[in-house]
Amino acid sequence: MPANRPTISIVAAMAENRVIGKDGRLPWRLPDEMKHFVRLTTGHTVVMGRKTFESIASKPLPNRRNIILTRNTNYTAPGTAAPNNNPPHIETAASIPDAIAKADNSDEVFICGGEQAYQDAMPLADNLYLTLVHASPDGDAHFPTFDDSDWNLTDQTRHDPDDRHEYAFTFHRYERIR
Ligand SMILES: NC(=O)c1ccc[n+]([C@@H]2O[C@H](COP(=O)([O-])OP(=O)(O)OC[C@H]3O[C@@H](n4cnc5c(N)ncnc54)[C@H](OP(=O)(O)O)[C@@H]3O)[C@@H](O)[C@H]2O)c1
Repeated sequence: MPANRPTISIVAAMAENRVIGKDGRLPWRLPDEMKHFVRLTTGHTVVMGRKTFESIASKPLPNRRNIILTRNTNYTAPGTAAPNNNPPHIETAASIPDAIAKADNSDEVFICGGEQAYQDAMPLADNLYLTLVHASPDGDAHFPTFDDSDWNLTDQTRHDPDDRHEYAFTFHRYERIR
């Protein structure tokens, strides 16, 4: 990895049982958590797995450079093959290091899931923006375990449940200890 590589940040929301997804979707609807994600990532590069991209209707996130992880070198986003249906502007990468190399002129690259992308990016990440959702829903995608002693917790803010948020959640920001 080149010395001048961008800052690599993982951004995720996980439940207390480490669940991050179920049946290809998020197991909760937490609008203020989504706003936090948008605020963090806007103006930067986002990297996500092919299934996560397809779970958001194969539409690139606006005002961000979108790099989709897939081992399929001929990947075309579903729903974009019809005539006059312009393909969404995305780039693809075959691995996390490939995605980071493609984003070498970005200041910060956000790894946005899912499970495999988080797993592969964890050893390279500088920052971890992890929202802990205070619930234990069923799920089939999980956030990887990580060693607390590798990370400094630099910020922690709780959001209580209310009429728009079924569960309480806590934003955490960790920086890797160098
Ligand atoms: N709670 C959260 O913060 C959060 C965030 C994101 C996603 N999610 C949830 O997570 C679930 C999806 O996660 P998932 O793990 O099933 O799928 P995923 O990581 O989104 O996508 C998996 C696919 O992406 C490609 N891929 C992933 N990592 C790769 C790597 N390191 N190198 C090359 N290709 C790679 C492969 O595509 P090909 O098969 O095309 O080769 C792989 O089959 C959904 O339920 C989603 O809602 C939750």
